[in-house]
Amino acid sequence: MTIEQLKAKFIEKFGEGEVSGYFSPGRVNLIGEHTDYNGGFVFPCALSFGIYCLVRKTDRKTVRFASLDMPFEAEVKVEDLNKAIGKEWVNYPIGVFAQFMKKGIVFEQGADLLFYGDVPTGAGLSSSAALEVVTGVMINDVYGFGIDRIELAKMGQKAEHEYALVNCGIMDQFASAMGKKDHAIFLNCDTLSYDLVPVKLEGVKIVISNTNSPHKLDSGKYNERVAECHAAVKAIQPYQQINALGEISWEDFLKVEDKIENETVRRRARHVVSEIQRTTDAVKELKAGNLVKFGELMNGSHDSLRNDYEVTGFELDTMVEEGRKIAGVIGTRMTGGGFGGCTVSLVKDEAVETFIAQVGKNYHEKTGLTPVFYVAEIGDGGKKLF
Ligand code: GLA
Repeated sequence: MTIEQLKAKFIEKFGEGEVSGYFSPGRVNLIGEHTDYNGGFVFPCALSFGIYCLVRKTDRKTVRFASLDMPFEAEVKVEDLNKAIGKEWVNYPIGVFAQFMKKGIVFEQGADLLFYGDVPTGAGLSSSAALEVVTGVMINDVYGFGIDRIELAKMGQKAEHEYALVNCGIMDQFASAMGKKDHAIFLNCDTLSYDLVPVKLEGVKIVISNTNSPHKLDSGKYNERVAECHAAVKAIQPYQQINALGEISWEDFLKVEDKIENETVRRRARHVVSEIQRTTDAVKELKAGNLVKFGELMNGSHDSLRNDYEVTGFELDTMVEEGRKIAGVIGTRMTGGGFGGCTVSLVKDEAVETFIAQVGKNYHEKTGLTPVFYVAEIGDGGKKLF
């Protein structure tokens, strides 16, 4: 859909007049999975696809929400912009309005909003974070509040906690708000200090494979993992004073690992602490131009997510196994929360076509599902378009 077509849709729905447009991207995480809510490192990049929001301020005291992707529409009084509506998609933008209201901001004037997404939903590419961040960037700009980007990312995360009931970390909203074209973000999720690392992959493409697996990010299982990590911290505390798994090095973890009595909790911690180490190593390798080493660390990440963290499942594992059979695949792993969704692979240019054809065919034969492949373009974070 072009910008002109989007504008026409807005005018069709809300009538003639001025209209502005905003965009925030989805993300793909290259490595560092389930580390963010443990104060660890992540290494995501913003994608060129995401969520659009067209807007016009009005003289009414209501905000009207519509989407080109969802049939549900709502008109909400400005004083009710913090009240959830059933389980509807509007709770993501409402959750963000609510964060502004929590800061004591009173919306005097209403608005008309039209959303549209070209990022697949429920695929682990952060369509919900893109929706939260585009809403935050739009409100901040249209109403002139001057809140900085990192705070907007945090407000998006809070919206997710309070209105989608997923106790997520900061990675997705941060990537959507702070991404930069052709760069990945090496983010310390404890301090939020970050380094934008150029991703110049000579002769190699980042390929995203959507399993199209019907199981979406399961908030129950996700929150269960978060709780298991807290349990691991508690079990380690008598031996080493830490407040989060991100505070213990891999070497120190090996010394206390067997003190964690619960075997599941021990394996969860093992994943997190080793993944944080892998992420730091991977960024060093990328900076040094060692893509092969980077790929090995990606493979190690997947195996740890499968064996110790148990967030992969048949479809993601099949996609990765089939990918690893293709010559020219440097590394491949699940990306995002898991339990379905996408894998991310580094594939040599000359192997991309074979990868898509072969993995597509074999994956379909084994799962009965038809996957979708995207060659990723790394884009900018949330911005005003017009
Ligand atoms: C989801 C969450 C993120 C992060 C990933 C796993 O995408 O929203 O905060 O925890 O899962 O790395």
